[in-house]
Amino acid sequence: MKKDILTLLDLAGEDFEVLFKRAIELKQMSKNGAKDRSLTGKTLGLIFDKPSTRTRLSFEAAMVQLGGTPIFISAKDTQIARNEPVRDTARVLSRYLDGLVIRTYSQELLKEFAEFTDIPVINALTDLFHPCQVLSDIMTVMEYKGDYKDVKIAWIGDGNNVAHSWINAAAVLGLDLVLACPDGYSPDKEVMEMALERGVGNIVVTSDPVKAVKNADVIYTDVWASMGQEKEQDRRKSVFEAFQVDRTLVKNAAKDVIVMHCLPAHRGEEISENVLEGPNSVVWDQSENKLHMHKAILDVLLKRKI
Ligand code: CP
Ligand code: NVA
Repeated sequence: MKKDILTLLDLAGEDFEVLFKRAIELKQMSKNGAKDRSLTGKTLGLIFDKPSTRTRLSFEAAMVQLGGTPIFISAKDTQIARNEPVRDTARVLSRYLDGLVIRTYSQELLKEFAEFTDIPVINALTDLFHPCQVLSDIMTVMEYKGDYKDVKIAWIGDGNNVAHSWINAAAVLGLDLVLACPDGYSPDKEVMEMALERGVGNIVVTSDPVKAVKNADVIYTDVWASMGQEKEQDRRKSVFEAFQVDRTLVKNAAKDVIVMHCLPAHRGEEISENVLEGPNSVVWDQSENKLHMHKAILDVLLKRKI
């Protein structure tokens, strides 16, 4: 049976553990100069409908470093752009490739790809979720805090795709998660309901960022206007003004709080320059871990270990 990662609710707690363990192993190996080429002969397709620096490059590099071959597919240069049905494209790609990484707008389209392929389909971001981002982020939390248990995570800003994946992770792993979002920009109701149904996590939504960061071990923020919301940018700037992660807000958290951001960052908007570049920021290590986690995801899914 193939395993997809369309949302983090596709994974059981044990699957998370397998991925964390493998990512940490592969990171250690790479620091020691050891190579694992066990995906030699395998081919990964990457379909991207939205821009990407980190996710695309880290998946491509991960595949190359594991001995496999990545093929980047710009959706606009394929017959998808000329309305070939997704289910037809999916069935054909399934016969050429061993795995498929997709970044697109609609979660439904991603689901259709998964349904009509018998190869693993991996969500590299949709409007609704960014599961692989949060997998590598939890790895970073584990490195800095020793564990993800008994760690208070404060999400500050938009209740967006990355926030939704944190909510899913919290539901499966039992995380302590507080999300501070402006009124009207809270996480999606259905996402919350599904997580609460599944979950053991302690998930709280508030509109008070100061309250949210009290005793927080991790502060996480993301852009105020995600890809596809560019037209809302100006309006969002005024709505989100009080939600900037700046020095004053960070001072309200635990002394050794780490500040995370999936990047790209907008300095002076969701995060101040001095916090992004300051002593609590772990964003570059966080970004590096995308490579190690993506290696683990490919290793585990393409070899059908879960
Ligand atoms: N964090 C992240 O997904 O970055 P990219 O948009 O550059 O892939
Ligand atoms: N929420 C952001 C994440 C970018 C990695 C977006 O969707 O644009």
